[in-house]
Amino acid sequence: MYKGKKRIGLLTSGGDCAGLNAAIRAVVNRAVDGLGWQVVGLHKGTAGLLARPPEAESLSPNRFDGTLLRMAGTILGTTNKGNPFAFPYPDGTLRDRSEEIVEGFRQLELDALIGVGGDGSLSILRRLAQQGDIPLIGIPKTIDNDVVGTEVAIGHATALWVATDALDRLQPTAASHDRVMVLEVMGRDAGHIALSAGISGGADVILLPELPYRIEGIAAKIDALRAQGRNFALVVVAEAAPMETGEPVVQAHNDAGMALYGGIGHYIGRRISETTKAEVRVTVLGHVQRGGTPTPRDRLMASIFGVHAVDLLAAGKSDRMVAWSGRNVVDLPLADIVDRPHRVDPAGALIRTARGLGIYVGEVSGGEESGGEESGGEESGA
Ligand code: F6P
Repeated sequence: MYKGKKRIGLLTSGGDCAGLNAAIRAVVNRAVDGLGWQVVGLHKGTAGLLARPPEAESLSPNRFDGTLLRMAGTILGTTNKGNPFAFPYPDGTLRDRSEEIVEGFRQLELDALIGVGGDGSLSILRRLAQQGDIPLIGIPKTIDNDVVGTEVAIGHATALWVATDALDRLQPTAASHDRVMVLEVMGRDAGHIALSAGISGGADVILLPELPYRIEGIAAKIDALRAQGRNFALVVVAEAAPMETGEPVVQAHNDAGMALYGGIGHYIGRRISETTKAEVRVTVLGHVQRGGTPTPRDRLMASIFGVHAVDLLAAGKSDRMVAWSGRNVVDLPLADIVDRPHRVDPAGALIRTARGLGIYVGEVSGGEESGGEESGGEESGA
């Protein structure tokens, strides 16, 4: 047992997603009820530790009245800007505030930290933990499902459900009006949501940042559908898929200089309309994918990850991330996952499935045909 280490901090960091409250509940139930520890919820990711006094609250199982398990968002708040090692100031400068975070952690008299985040957040938390000699366990979450080393990150399943539901709603209206419907979905630099939702939702074309496409290839697919007597088509585009120039469509940059994608759906819609003369409509799903009722899969994974994270601390382990692999919860060194986003494997099972279904997912590359790493549904978190 982890003697003397009884007061742990818990934070959520990066973009929110469905299932975070289930993870918070699991950590609190296991640590407080199970082990008699204290859990301190830190507000707005590391931002709560920059405030003086630090912004935090003691969490007890009483806080979870039965509704939170079912609610998206995070009761602790979060942020996906304000990297403490390069913290943006209003005058445009970036300053290192990491020591203040470590000091905030000390002021709260915490013995260890559990951080729920994507690979960017976990990478920052690891640097902070090393600097402050803080025992840290990471829990992977991101709708994008691009954390390496785990088949599942919290939030992806709900986003996938929302995107698939959108296709279910678009198909009848597309068929009623003889239209091509373009659906733009999220996925910063990785096309897992687009690929899995496209397959699940019966898309005819799926465009990803990982696979090059040609407008002529999309047009040929739509023409082939017409030749078969089909009067509609469904196209799913990942927000980070590039234009034909190879550049992504960037709407803006946030305070930390991070590119905010959005608009590729309209570009693709316009190009399809020009090339095929089809009537096209575009839907940009956006942040809808981050909310809603968490699916059972996200609640389940969040619960498993939360309990296992506490158990790792209880066993005296740190600098590790909990993960789901081979139908089991495992853990791996955080060093193995940081700065290595897991992108769609062009030779993986889901691309092969999509092609096998006749979906246009971009041009076939030489390496793809020779086969690659067997992903066995890893990309979808299936
Ligand atoms: O990483 C999760 C994510 O939802 C991405 O899919 C998307 O590009 C980004 O966050 C949006 O960030 P923001 O909430 O700052 O608009």
